[in-house]
Amino acid sequence: MANLVTKESPFSPGKPVSVEYFVARSEEIQRLDRAVKQTKGGSNQNLFIMGERGIGKSSLAGIIHYLAEKEHDFIGSHCYLGGVRTLETMTRVIFQRLFQELTDKSLFEKLREVFGQYIRGVTLFGFGVDFTKNESELLTLLENFQPAVRKVYDTVKDTKKGLVLILDDLNGITTIPEFSEFLKSFVDELATARDSLPLLLILVGIPERRDDLIKHQPSVARIFDIIELRPMSEAESQEFFTNTFDKQGMSIEPEALSLMVRLSGGFPMLMHEVGDAIFWKDGDGNIDKHDAKEGLLQAAEIVGMKYLDRQVYRALRSDTYRSILRKIGKVPLGATFQRKEVRAKIPEKERKGFDNFLTRMKKLGVICETEILGEYRFINELYHLSIRLEAFKAEKERVRK
Ligand SMILES: Nc1ncnc2c1ncn2[C@@H]1O[C@H](COP(=O)(O)OP(=O)(O)OP(=O)(O)O)[C@@H](O)[C@H]1O
Ligand SMILES: [Mg+2]
Repeated sequence: MANLVTKESPFSPGKPVSVEYFVARSEEIQRLDRAVKQTKGGSNQNLFIMGERGIGKSSLAGIIHYLAEKEHDFIGSHCYLGGVRTLETMTRVIFQRLFQELTDKSLFEKLREVFGQYIRGVTLFGFGVDFTKNESELLTLLENFQPAVRKVYDTVKDTKKGLVLILDDLNGITTIPEFSEFLKSFVDELATARDSLPLLLILVGIPERRDDLIKHQPSVARIFDIIELRPMSEAESQEFFTNTFDKQGMSIEPEALSLMVRLSGGFPMLMHEVGDAIFWKDGDGNIDKHDAKEGLLQAAEIVGMKYLDRQVYRALRSDTYRSILRKIGKVPLGATFQRKEVRAKIPEKERKGFDNFLTRMKKLGVICETEILGEYRFINELYHLSIRLEAFKAEKERVRK
């Protein structure tokens, strides 16, 4: 029991991964590393890390921030702008974060002097400042954003080679047209300035956020080079599970590993849920097929509550849709289904809404089409398992009643 209480899971579902546990993505890291080097050489770079929810965008951005600081002497600010809806607040978050992330005391003091008029106080433990919330001060800073960023660089350039600015969680700010305009003019100003500024600007978001930006300002499409994140390959997923468990001195039997890899389908977010659930199920440091199965069932429950409940079940309010979902959920795990076959088997009432249902489920990221015309599959097997469990539970409930 004491052992159970003190052990700590190396998995971090729902949080960007720490440097120590980051795996794979070597191609993307190489590209980003190249961008850091080019920036250092004086040609400022603008990138957009794009991918579906939970695919690992913030984690990758975090690694680049880390590498830029550790290996290339950059300083940086990784800002989460979720919920930020004005450029003034964005400006505040950027500067506040920059101070928070500075680990060099002397640079901190130098910058604090330069931006003194905007600083209300220093946080309790030294690093980090309370940046002004005054609207008109923030507006001044925003209107002089490019010179202000340049000032940051000029202040640190004796010891630092460049700046990295990461704008993450863009939902909110991309809804306002001013953000697109801001990006366009900021990047243009940098490009036409007399002196180069070694700044690496990285936006992070799902494809829809990039679409928002382009809708407001079409030039954004060509300003940012895209780094697209896709699900991890089988080998990368294996590496993830093996490494992470290995760091805790735990081993995995091949059958268990292959189940974990298969069901999480290369989605890092699901890999962490699966790993975490199995970690807590295991009692002896060796993960066998039984541990894996138990953990996967638990992970499917969690995924149902955390992701499917809000994003899918609530979006599908109609009983007809729920009923169709349960029917397709019952196809064997990993199997595909044919539109025509399912349609022929369901009652008249469900048949009418069937095509709409398929379109919505595709949009919600639950199913996708295969290469065969009219054939579909679940986007990953863990979602499938979760929906399957829900379907059987609902049936049990119905029988009981
Ligand atoms: N390369 C990686 N190695 C190990 N774990 C990873 C990796 N990439 C992502 N993860 C894990 O996957 C989960 C999702 O990662 P992350 O938060 O970076 O995704 P995201 O694309 O930023 O998601 P969102 O769209 O919700 O912001 C987290 O639990 C994270 O720890
Ligand atoms: Mg993220």
